[in-house]
Amino acid sequence: MQAMTTVTVLLLTLWSSHFTTGQIPNPDQYRFTWTSDGVAQERYAIDKKAGKMSRLWFSNTGDEEFGGNQDIYVRDDSRTYLFNFMAQPPQCIANRGGPYNEMNFWPNLVQSFGGEQKKYDELLFDPDCDGTCLTWKTEYNETYHHYRYVNRLYVKKAEKKPIKIVLKTYDLNTGSLVSTSVTRFINWVTGNVPDYEYDYPMDLETCFKP
Ligand SMILES: *[C@@H]1O[C@H](CO)[C@@H](O)[C@H](O)[C@H]1NC(C)=O
Repeated sequence: MQAMTTVTVLLLTLWSSHFTTGQIPNPDQYRFTWTSDGVAQERYAIDKKAGKMSRLWFSNTGDEEFGGNQDIYVRDDSRTYLFNFMAQPPQCIANRGGPYNEMNFWPNLVQSFGGEQKKYDELLFDPDCDGTCLTWKTEYNETYHHYRYVNRLYVKKAEKKPIKIVLKTYDLNTGSLVSTSVTRFINWVTGNVPDYEYDYPMDLETCFKP
């Protein structure tokens, strides 16, 4: 398993270095917050080279009092710390080993749109890109509910920066639009992730060590 992971990381690194115009950005250092229809869902900070990752997920009610949870993994510690701000008082659990697969949020998303090597499907002019977006599209028909789903990833052409995913649901019979849902990537940066992203929000002495 460990060897598999190493090979995967190595391949991702090689692919990244062959990155050319018109492909889906898939850096190994990045951070972003994703929002769903305007509500913040999760924040990721990943540095595969340094072996550091942080995933913060907000409570689904958006309730400030109940904050959310955070995973922090530092490869040198060989532990994944879970900070639970939904508990009263907040708790910390120091689990052994690396993070869950969710830490591969971005690579998994890139894969779902056809992989890093896939050339964009269409150029679209969109105010969110301050001009031209590269877009990748996936679609499928669900015959049971008679829906057709069209999912489109938008990347700002000028900066190769992911902007949003727009999911449109159509009535399969009539072709009319049923709903539109927008996932946005805000505060997206690539390159060096500031160290403070991985600062532990609690004293590790208080952590439960299973
Ligand atoms: C879904 O259905 C529409 C309308 O019948 C059709 O044009 C389209 O090719 C179908 N897409 C897939 C992925 O089967």
